Amino acid sequence: MQSEAPTSSPRHVAIIMDGNGRWAEARGLPRTAGHRAGVERVREAVRTAGEAGIEYLTLFAFSSENWRRPEQEVSDLMGLLRFFVRKDLAELHRENVRVKVIGCRQNIQPDIRALLTDAENRTRENTGITLVIAFNYGARDELVRAARKLVEDVQSGVLDAAAIDEAAVSGRVDTAGIPDPDVVIRTSGEQRLSNFLLWQAAYSEFVFLPCLWPDFDRAAFHEALVEYAGRERRFGVVSAPCIAVGS
Ligand code: IPE
Ligand code: IPE
Ligand code: MG
Repeated sequence: MQSEAPTSSPRHVAIIMDGNGRWAEARGLPRTAGHRAGVERVREAVRTAGEAGIEYLTLFAFSSENWRRPEQEVSDLMGLLRFFVRKDLAELHRENVRVKVIGCRQNIQPDIRALLTDAENRTRENTGITLVIAFNYGARDELVRAARKLVEDVQSGVLDAAAIDEAAVSGRVDTAGIPDPDVVIRTSGEQRLSNFLLWQAAYSEFVFLPCLWPDFDRAAFHEALVEYAGRERRFGVVSAPCIAVGS
């Protein structure tokens, strides 16, 4: 049975796709088998998000810290990224998906850099869901790069130092122009951000699911959206009924 998507959908959902290794290990398989199964879930998640009316789906695919994994695993993950972009780009494009990549573009293999840039360029004019792929992404690295851009803009006279405000920072992080995530979902039971969207998630809701990423199906996605729909977002203000009680 397919579960129904909840009525109040977030605009932007960000997902920390975690648990591929444990999924494989539980089956006596190499970790790479978990990553491969995880890629299958990416396709399904993009489709489910589109159907639920979500405008932006950000997926944490590879962190700036993941380079410290064993060489073979890193190489397998790079192979899977190449495979995903080459195989799925045409279909994403057909489905009107706009692809955007966040993360540092330096120090990555030139062919991967070219693939990612091509994916962005080819889908730039699409008007459907925006799929934001966080690759070689670390929030602290992103903030350091944004700080450098601020300094450059002040030095070149584009920006007055005294005029630096939150919008000036938001406009120089990798997600410039993209609304902050309403909800950050993490699979695998871990309850941490692992250097993901530290600036953007200031007022995001968090949904931690026990399921491992290769098991994250439509029902699990809908479960997370239902949990989000039940949350009361206050953004630091006092809601009207509380004022009425105190007065
Ligand atoms: C997430 O799954 C994928 C990446 C970080 C690239 P993991 O590989 O972290 O899986 P676990 O957490 O070890 O189970
Ligand atoms: C976060 O997962 C990165 C991605 C999902 C790509 P990790 O598995 O790398 O995070 P930690 O090491 O458990 O914090
Ligand atoms: Mg992990």
